[in-house]
Amino acid sequence: MISDATEVAARVDMVQIFIFGMMAFWFIACNAVLVYFMLRYRRKGPDDKVANIKGNHMLEIVWTVIPCILVLIIFYYGVVVWKDLRVPPEGEPVYEISVTGQKWSWSFKYPNGATTGNELIVPVGTNIKLNMKSADVIHSFFIPEFRVKEDVVPSQYTYMWFNAKYAGEYNIFCTEYCGKDHSHMLGKVKVLDADNWENWEKTGLMLGEEILPPLENGEKLFVKRGCKGCHSIDGVKLVGPTMLDAYGRSAAFDDGQSYTIDDNYIVESIKYPERHIVAGYPRGQMPSFDGQLSDSELSDIITYIKSIKSE
Ligand code: CUA
Repeated sequence: MISDATEVAARVDMVQIFIFGMMAFWFIACNAVLVYFMLRYRRKGPDDKVANIKGNHMLEIVWTVIPCILVLIIFYYGVVVWKDLRVPPEGEPVYEISVTGQKWSWSFKYPNGATTGNELIVPVGTNIKLNMKSADVIHSFFIPEFRVKEDVVPSQYTYMWFNAKYAGEYNIFCTEYCGKDHSHMLGKVKVLDADNWENWEKTGLMLGEEILPPLENGEKLFVKRGCKGCHSIDGVKLVGPTMLDAYGRSAAFDDGQSYTIDDNYIVESIKYPERHIVAGYPRGQMPSFDGQLSDSELSDIITYIKSIKSE
């Protein structure tokens, strides 16, 4: 695995190695002198007298000034690299993507209107800026290989930028505890080469990837968009109701009404989940996917949900 997948990552590591190296050198040097002095100037007998030294100004100035200079070097080096890590290079084009964190998945919206869930698709060698917000609680967006990490905060926009050097796949972790399924809030960055990116931007498909039939595409979306984390397909009760035999049945809702689970209800519950909650399930758990799924994607998900039936 590539450990420094951006230009800045290698420099972040250099700062780290520099500070660690310097600390290690002085730790060992100071302790070596300490041990030497303990042995060299130990009391050798009852009549052993030591010289009465009052102080040495020169020595004190030297051991104050040298550490000051070293700390200033660390500060300067750190600030310079931090600035490059934080601010996209001036005057260069930047490709901006909106990121929303919500319990417990990531969604991405691109300038051409495309959306993806838990999978950030970017071109190689391009300055990418992520404009990030949260739909519920504080999350934190971390791509270890890029050395970038930034909190994603409700009612506040935060940002980060990176420029991936190599095409490939990298992990995204949520690094702020955000509830029950925090540890499952995982994603991938897919860095595409120029040809693949051009194709994806136009068609939403990777080179060589085919358009899936509705049922398969619905199943893929159900997993990729994180539905499966809360809605089982085998009858087990998770955070939300199971999808097993869900379609077509009549369900009691927490407002005392009862509705039939049909296409309209499924679309409504995906876009505006707070309107009707199935009785026995807590409110405020299901995030809204309004604007994050196209009509054809919603229709494919419905096709898949219809197919989840017990034998
Ligand atoms: Cu989101 Cu932890």
